[in-house]
Amino acid sequence: MIQAPVRTPGTPYHVAVIMDGNGRWARARHLPRTEGHRQGVNAARAVVRACASRGVKVLTLFAFSSENWRRPHQEVGTLMELFVRSIRRELPELEEKGIRLRFIGDREAFSQRLQARMAEAEQRTRDNTLMELVVAVSYGGRWDITRAAATLADQVRHGSMTPEQITPEALEEQLSTKGLPDPDLFIRTGGEKRVSNFLLWQLAYTELFFSDVLWPDFSEDDLVQAFDCFAGRQRRFGHIQEQLVGGSGA
Ligand code: IPE
Ligand code: IPE
Ligand code: MG
Repeated sequence: MIQAPVRTPGTPYHVAVIMDGNGRWARARHLPRTEGHRQGVNAARAVVRACASRGVKVLTLFAFSSENWRRPHQEVGTLMELFVRSIRRELPELEEKGIRLRFIGDREAFSQRLQARMAEAEQRTRDNTLMELVVAVSYGGRWDITRAAATLADQVRHGSMTPEQITPEALEEQLSTKGLPDPDLFIRTGGEKRVSNFLLWQLAYTELFFSDVLWPDFSEDDLVQAFDCFAGRQRRFGHIQEQLVGGSGA
């Protein structure tokens, strides 16, 4: 396990990324879209390393949305294969660096084999503390909130809580991100300016950064650019400027 780096002021504690643009990256090179996904794994590895070495404590990567099941069968199949292979290949480095892995999303939608791989990877890294790597797979913000609401409704029905006890904090306890602070910085690559059903609840006060760079080309320099932009933001959380002590929120 490597020594925890010091998080310089202005570095976000929790970074959430929509890794978008793999298909367009491949198409621009007359390659099949799946080649873009393969290259995307390399970009993800580089960003994980860069975040860990810069003192980011939580990195959430959107790898597959609940709506991505609508893609052609062959592309979905390749993505599943890539997930299985990537977990196997990347696990030793994550273990060695002290990175904890957590998967969020509707895991039951995946094959038994993939579910087992995810559970095993979580188990093997559960004591790691350098950084938490959260991978959102078959994830949708609406799925997350709906499931939390259903759990609360069930608790009310069984008498273990009253409707008055349904607070934002109580709902948060049922989200898949339970225990994690909300993202400080959201990055979307690939040029689209939307959140595409990512962490809808958790992004309430997150600083948004959009990059035109296609995900397979996203480098540490691009990440640093996003961090620099974040460091210059003033987060007010509803207050007025005069009420705030520091400049940026990290
Ligand atoms: C993001 O890249 C990866 C996944 C959604 C799995 P895309 O595959 O969406 O790439 P574009 O947006 O079509 O270029
Ligand atoms: C969002 O990208 C999901 C992931 C990157 C995993 P999409 O490419 O699926 O989003 P839309 O369809 O352009 O909104
Ligand atoms: Mg896309």
